[in-house]
Amino acid sequence: MDEQDLAFDDAGTGPAVILLHGYPFDRSMWRDQIRVVVAAGYRAIAPDLRGLGESAFAGETTTMGQMARDVLVLMSQLEVDRATVCGLSMGGYVALEFAQLFPSRLNALILAGTRAPADSEEEKQGRQQQVELMLTKGMKPVAEGSLMKLLALITLEEKPEVVAGVRRMILQSNPHGAAAAQRGMAARRDYSSDLPRINVPALIIVGREDTIRPVSDAGFMHDRIPGSRLEIIDAAAHMTNMEQPEIFNRALLKQLIT
Ligand code: MLT
Repeated sequence: MDEQDLAFDDAGTGPAVILLHGYPFDRSMWRDQIRVVVAAGYRAIAPDLRGLGESAFAGETTTMGQMARDVLVLMSQLEVDRATVCGLSMGGYVALEFAQLFPSRLNALILAGTRAPADSEEEKQGRQQQVELMLTKGMKPVAEGSLMKLLALITLEEKPEVVAGVRRMILQSNPHGAAAAQRGMAARRDYSSDLPRINVPALIIVGREDTIRPVSDAGFMHDRIPGSRLEIIDAAAHMTNMEQPEIFNRALLKQLIT
């Protein structure tokens, strides 16, 4: 196993909740969730996934399996035996990978703005174009090209601090780390057949206006994960936890407490 130290936040005491960010973001996207989880008596652990945020870039391709193993190594370092794992989008792929690789380390699963099937050929080509763009022109065109898709219109119009936060995360991403994550996402496997075997409480969250990972992707997982719950958040697109933190947090806490 090629182990890697991750930058991370670790706050509070109690049962652990691990928060896995999306692409090309970092652990700062979980600020509101960390506060609420800690206030409710839990320990919130939010790493920067390999190559993103303050975690070092290592290699051309970062697979979802490597990221899941990095999370396991972090749990061992922090002496956390089991945790609720919550991932948004790419963090959701990592959470699904983790659930398959290390089921005995999981208390519950929260999957936000993510999906189970692998990429189509067209999506893989789109990722390759994104890789070329960020390696030649940096993250600015990526930020400009993706904000409209990541956020609901109402967020773009009425929540400038959320728009600024998402833009900042993208602009601060290391293009090489982001490119490695894109290649890893393109190479990820189809998790669909894993879903019926998930035997921990699962919550699926989706923004009603998410066009990147739409409600149908969430419904697909909800139909296949036994006993799972589905939360559709209005007035939010892909970044549900930042766009509608109160609703997201209520669903998250309900999942922890039940
Ligand atoms: C993310 O937000 O993590 C990405 O949109 C995931 C993806 O590109 O599949």
